[in-house]
Amino acid sequence: MKKIILYVVILLNFLPYLLKAEEGMWPPILLSQRINEMQKLGLKLSAEDIYSINNSSLKDAIVQFGGGCTGVLVSGTGLLLTNHHCGFGSIQRQSSLEHDYLKKGYWAGSPEEELPNPGLTVTFLVRMEDVSVKVLEGVTPYMSEKDRGNIIKKNIDIIEKESVKGTVFEAKVKPFYNGNQYYLFINEVFRDVRLVGAPPSSIGSFGGDTDNWVWPRHTGDFSVFRIYASKDNKPAEYSRENVPYKPKKYLSVSLRGVEKGDFTMVFGFPGTTRENLTSYGVDLIAFKENPLKVAFRQKRLDIIEEAMNADARTRIQYASKRAGIANGWKKMMGETRGIKQMNTLELKTEQQDGFIAWANADQERAKKYGKLLSVAEGTYSRLCPCDLAGIYITEGFQGIELLRFAGGFRDIVKMAEKKDTKEADLVKSAEKLRAAVRPFFKDYQQNLDKRIAVELLSMISNGMDPSFKPGFFVSVEKKQQGDWQEYVDHLYAVSVFADSARLISILSAPGLKSLRKLASDPAYQLAASSSAVMENKINPVVTDCNRTIDSIQRIFIEGLMIFRDKKTWYPDANLTLRIAYGKVDDYHGADAVSYSYFTTVKGILQKENPDIYDYIVEPKLKDLILGNNFGMYADKDGSMHVAFTASNHTTGGNSGSPVLDGSGRLLGLNFDRNWEGTMSDLQYDPEQCRNIVLDIRYCLFIIDRFAGAKRLIDEMDLVK
Ligand code: ARG
Ligand code: GLU
Repeated sequence: MKKIILYVVILLNFLPYLLKAEEGMWPPILLSQRINEMQKLGLKLSAEDIYSINNSSLKDAIVQFGGGCTGVLVSGTGLLLTNHHCGFGSIQRQSSLEHDYLKKGYWAGSPEEELPNPGLTVTFLVRMEDVSVKVLEGVTPYMSEKDRGNIIKKNIDIIEKESVKGTVFEAKVKPFYNGNQYYLFINEVFRDVRLVGAPPSSIGSFGGDTDNWVWPRHTGDFSVFRIYASKDNKPAEYSRENVPYKPKKYLSVSLRGVEKGDFTMVFGFPGTTRENLTSYGVDLIAFKENPLKVAFRQKRLDIIEEAMNADARTRIQYASKRAGIANGWKKMMGETRGIKQMNTLELKTEQQDGFIAWANADQERAKKYGKLLSVAEGTYSRLCPCDLAGIYITEGFQGIELLRFAGGFRDIVKMAEKKDTKEADLVKSAEKLRAAVRPFFKDYQQNLDKRIAVELLSMISNGMDPSFKPGFFVSVEKKQQGDWQEYVDHLYAVSVFADSARLISILSAPGLKSLRKLASDPAYQLAASSSAVMENKINPVVTDCNRTIDSIQRIFIEGLMIFRDKKTWYPDANLTLRIAYGKVDDYHGADAVSYSYFTTVKGILQKENPDIYDYIVEPKLKDLILGNNFGMYADKDGSMHVAFTASNHTTGGNSGSPVLDGSGRLLGLNFDRNWEGTMSDLQYDPEQCRNIVLDIRYCLFIIDRFAGAKRLIDEMDLVK
């Protein structure tokens, strides 16, 4: 009887988990397990239509865009849609006061005007394969984590090399289910990706950071690029001879719009989720790491924003940097809020107790799983102080641009200090660094950075665990007695890294003597001594703890998979291609608060405020809205829809992901999550978590009517 009660209690603990039907980001090769459910919900395609190695399938129209976004092909000549915030860095780098594409937008009138973006790549998945057996060959159950790691690394190296021998492809093996399985990815990477069009920020970032991570939304968050290839349609470095890429597959674009309850799926490259972390792990992230990072970022943002508001040039220079800092800052606040609201720590603790009780009810299981969670607890308490000290370095010292820049010279200084360094190698490194000087100063305001330095250094001084403080910093601290302004004035006056002309002249005649002098530069010393703490004191402990945590997670998950139903398992996001499915849906954000699932252009005028940068509406857009003639882009209710929400499980990296209907037609571009759902990387809640999607008809409307870029619309395959 006792046993039955125990099992009932355990089952009740896990019931909420088992019922979350829409949760999950599925690797395409696991689709066969989901396809029946997807079809029941409204999918009209087969698994083979979505992912096939032998025939062209939907996956051939999806790319990883840059390092951290997704894009989708919408024409037979390589036309690609992604978010405005994904193209933002490229648009910003092409911008100047004379050509302010951030502010005014950019539309190439012809192929010749499509702008190359050095360094920007798009990656197609050619195929994937389960290689767990090969990767784990030679691994035994009770070997040390270190030995295990070495064997796995060796096996992976061999697999990656052999799988692409003699091809133009690239290979990558990645762990799934915390290292219980391994998949091989064969990728094709294109390196000539050109900017075709972008709306002005007043459309593409409408609502800015005030609206970011929040529904309702009225942002036209899209930009248009084109992939170019060699004449034989293969990846190639940028060349004027290159021609538009002919994809194996591109998506038709739906003019139908959506209704509540419609099936949707999102195909893209989600970055990181950690759904099966222990309560100790969630506690560290949500209640220790996030608040500290938020505090550092808050300081930087206050100063940057003030400077941006005061000066048009600063606004361009810092637009992309600020967006990055602010995006993480707000997400972390939302995440911690959500974890608190969901009582995740209590819930996880209860689940863990249930798991341990289950484990201890059997001798074999007890041996394997019984101590797992107490080891986890101990490991996290060892990790925590180091982890937080690391944040003082990455968000503190490295939040000061001068120091981060100076820190980038560590390798060359080390080379210069070594006796046997060849002159030619030194010259080569100096050339590389010299090339980085101009781009750094192009987007840099020293006064702003100095103000940040004063604030951050004093935060570090007051808050960092003294046993981790870098030696050089401690000596400055003693001398300055809290007067950080005086120190910063001095630092920026004497440091070579604050003076581009001096720095370039040193790098242009990279004699050993002058390079060695860099080592005694105060900005360099401060940066280098904080990096040294990271390398020598923090990283060894963090690496060791993480190795233990990895193994705990791996065994914990393996146990949970036996304990719970195996079929409901999806692996955490890891920047590989995934499919999430769900439906168009509204939600109740709080007691007595409910949100409708779509927005219209009416809301743009309601939010309009000419005095606030984020809410400026251009006269041309305003006229179009007031004209109330949306033609084929209108919804059947006659209005112009801007965005909608759905219950697809997404995360960072899913930006720009196509949101598809049951027939695989493009309904919109994923671009955000709602405030109440930002904790979904740690715990998904089907009641609260919604992804936010740009209605593709608003995107087309802007391209056609606002930008007059009909030539792009004509390339696409529009279906009603
Ligand atoms: N929150 C979205 C994402 O995680 C959009 C960010 C871009 N927008 C912004 N205002 N920073 O990337
Ligand atoms: N905006 C995010 C991105 O850049 C997607 C939103 C999310 O994190 O869910 O990938």
